[in-house]
Amino acid sequence: MIRVTNLIKNANRTRILRGVSFDLAPQTVLGIIGASGSGKTTLLRCLNGLERIDEGEIECGDVHLDAKLSKHEYARRVVELRRKVGTVFQHLYLFPHLTVLGNIIEAPVHVLRVPREKAQREAFELLDSVGLKDKAPRYPESLSGGEQQRVAIARALAMHPALLMFDEPTSALDPKRSAGLRSLLRGTVDRGHTMVVVSHSIGFLEGLADQLLYMEGGEVVECGPANQILNSPQDPRTKDFVEQAK
Ligand SMILES: Nc1ncnc2c1ncn2[C@@H]1O[C@H](COP(=O)(O)OP(=O)(O)O)[C@@H](O)[C@H]1O
Ligand SMILES: [Mg+2]
Repeated sequence: MIRVTNLIKNANRTRILRGVSFDLAPQTVLGIIGASGSGKTTLLRCLNGLERIDEGEIECGDVHLDAKLSKHEYARRVVELRRKVGTVFQHLYLFPHLTVLGNIIEAPVHVLRVPREKAQREAFELLDSVGLKDKAPRYPESLSGGEQQRVAIARALAMHPALLMFDEPTSALDPKRSAGLRSLLRGTVDRGHTMVVVSHSIGFLEGLADQLLYMEGGEVVECGPANQILNSPQDPRTKDFVEQAK
């Protein structure tokens, strides 16, 4: 269970997140939509501990971050949180000096202390599941954007995160690749993952997200079942956004 309560984030005296709250049930997908600048990326950065929150709480399984914690205790819990939350950023940040296989086993071997052979076996299974088994010895720069993205997904999955987050995963993909990515992600949810997917593309989230959250100016305008948000939004601001984005 993921629970975010009254999360507030300031940067340079500007309030970026203004009291964000939502719950996320296991094995479901939350889609986050909203115009550029509405705070979506900042929210993901708070959820994986890259930004310290200024007020509120984040609960992710048995890890509980509270803005009131001391600096030391907050940092200690962020280390725990990072083991539970995997993020695939818009810029994928693959290690350029490591092969595809090296990228995938790096964290399992060095962070989780999985024996190298076991990590490699699993990496091949993951690469197979994203259709890239034959690319294991290649370096990221020799792969297409879509292939690099699938490597980044396999790398995140190799850590068995309780929560997997994506920031604008379709920004570099053509429509056919987007559809392929959607079924890949849906498959990983069906195998037990919980996900947060930030996307400006409502079309991509349709059929993937169980719940949708619409943000504007750092606030949650509306959050609910995807069908309801798409077909009968309650707030006029959500309605405007959904209509324009269709
Ligand atoms: N470190 C920062 N300092 C000041 N303002 C920031 C910082 N990070 C983000 N912002 C501002 O916060 C707002 C939300 O940004 P962001 O989370 O990137 O939105 P989104 O991902 O929805 O486009 C924007 O107005 C952005 O300029
Ligand atoms: Mg963003």
